[in-house]
Amino acid sequence: MIYKVLFTLAFTILIRPGFSQTSLKDWGLKYNKHIGAAVNNLFITLPKDSLYTQILVKEFNAVVPENQFKFRHIHPQPGVFNFSITDSFVDAALKNDLYIRGHVFVWHQALPEWIDTGAFTRTELLSILENHIYTIMARYKGKIHEYDVVNEAIKDDGTLRTSKWRDIIGSDYIDSAFVFAHRADSSALLFYNDYNAEIENIKSDAIFTMVEEMKKNNIPINGVGFQCHFMLDSVNETLMDKNIKRFARLGLYTPLTEADIAVPSNQIGTPKGLASQANDYAKLMRLCLQNNSCNSLMFWGYTDRYSWIPDFWDDSKGAALIFDENYRPKPAYFSLIETLKQNAR
Ligand code: G3I
Repeated sequence: MIYKVLFTLAFTILIRPGFSQTSLKDWGLKYNKHIGAAVNNLFITLPKDSLYTQILVKEFNAVVPENQFKFRHIHPQPGVFNFSITDSFVDAALKNDLYIRGHVFVWHQALPEWIDTGAFTRTELLSILENHIYTIMARYKGKIHEYDVVNEAIKDDGTLRTSKWRDIIGSDYIDSAFVFAHRADSSALLFYNDYNAEIENIKSDAIFTMVEEMKKNNIPINGVGFQCHFMLDSVNETLMDKNIKRFARLGLYTPLTEADIAVPSNQIGTPKGLASQANDYAKLMRLCLQNNSCNSLMFWGYTDRYSWIPDFWDDSKGAALIFDENYRPKPAYFSLIETLKQNAR
């Protein structure tokens, strides 16, 4: 009996596969997955020893610019590109061995006024779009290897969303954006990205039909990103797995691109809220590990100190990330590590 105990102890401490992996980053490298976070400008403006950057660089092997590459910020005036922030961002990421997910070329939000209010013909807007995509991709060729080309084009009811792009160009703006992106950098991976499409429903069916058609027509799309903005206790692992697999069967990558698990305000910081959130995050990690098509698990931020949720939802929910607002790892963080360890056994 004593030998059995000693053996188990020695195995646990010394031999257990993955023992040396201590951060999400180490595990990401081991499994060849991008485990990353959306980052704000603190990444490039705070001194290098700031906690924000220290933890980011220690814990993750990938980043996504939360807002910096959005049309409004990077292309604020006709023909004027503002690359000062994005250049610093890309340099900082590469210096720290962080893979970059590019986000985003075509979206109905975060447009500059000149696009929002401009009167363009279809040909003019197509040319603006082509130039926008080409200029950015050419600048970061060899540095950014994947992009969300089109974001949130389908509404929850499965119909195509009205937007400047759709209204002026027509529904083929989506195909055009992918073709332009492929022409700009044929080696980059190109994604369609959306929310509320993680399980089979009217919206994900519409996305599925759209990308299936795109594949048939040789439109260069490489994957569909599932954003994963969830409320506490609403991650259904089985249904997500089924949905991911049908997209993978089309030969597409299926990254989880903007994960956060929002906690209702009356449960923030409670043992039950923290435990449920940990459980939800573990499900996402398991899904990504068990599906080769899931090349990335990206969180939409990593510390509750900086998250879009409380502002956007008038503080009715929040605390959605894996580190608290004082940069302490939450049970969610440890459940991710534990899931990675279990996967190695
Ligand atoms: O920087 C200004 C600040 O100077 C000003 O005082 C303040 C007042 O409102 O606004 C600040 O800008 C805000 C910016 O976030 C930076 O915090 C914008 O108003 C706000 O609209 C913007 O929200 C971003 C949102 O996309 C819209 O672009 C969120 O940070 C960002 O997390 C969110 O990200 C989206 C993804 O791109 C697509 N999927 C959904 C996801 C969450 O909404």
